[in-house]
Amino acid sequence: MGFASPESDVPIGVLASGAGTNLAALLAADLAPGRVARVVVNNPRAGAIACAQAAGVPVTVVDHREHPTRRAFDAQLVEVLRADGVQWVVLAGFMRIVTSTLLGAFPGRVVNIHPSLLPAFPGVDAQRQAFEAGVRVAGCTVHLVDSGVDTGPILAQTAVPVLEDDDLPRLRRRILEAEHALLPRVVRALARGGLDVRGAKPRLRGVDGDEPRPAAAEATKR
Ligand code: GRF
Repeated sequence: MGFASPESDVPIGVLASGAGTNLAALLAADLAPGRVARVVVNNPRAGAIACAQAAGVPVTVVDHREHPTRRAFDAQLVEVLRADGVQWVVLAGFMRIVTSTLLGAFPGRVVNIHPSLLPAFPGVDAQRQAFEAGVRVAGCTVHLVDSGVDTGPILAQTAVPVLEDDDLPRLRRRILEAEHALLPRVVRALARGGLDVRGAKPRLRGVDGDEPRPAAAEATKR
């Protein structure tokens, strides 16, 4: 395999279900060579739709309620994402469990952001779980998605202190701010070929934006 010239355009698909604040953070960031090529939303009333439209990014609603099974829903997602040549799939506030139908179409290329320091507090309302557990440090995690729920290889995390006078809404806001800062940096690093899967655990270089783009981008490809 010869020297790989770094790719100049890396189409990214973003899946969202809700307000879309993580999507907004991605659309406001410099992800180059990454480019949000398609947004797919499963909830026709999601704020993420308007967010994509405001940024002029194509958005498709694939309503999960219109599909008989999770796999049928995922197959529709795959069709939409493949049509845009998507190379990375980012779950940004996406509230559906994905199946091997999606993961098999984009092996090692689906990432998720979760509002806790995994493996602590997987699942729903992680912020509340952490707050009620009395942790002194909360946070967020971006990880590769595997067949489990919030169990894939961790790529990056941000710790968020829990302050003495915190209530849950304040902690949620602080964690969300950390998510908005972390996710675009991870996506840009991935688009630049920073993921190295050769070791026991995948390692992501360039999250801080300072590492040079890897010479042999091919070496980090799956
Ligand atoms: C975020 O905390 C995200 O981690 C979780 O859903 C929340 C809302 O995300 N999965 P968004 O505002 O819709 O991007």
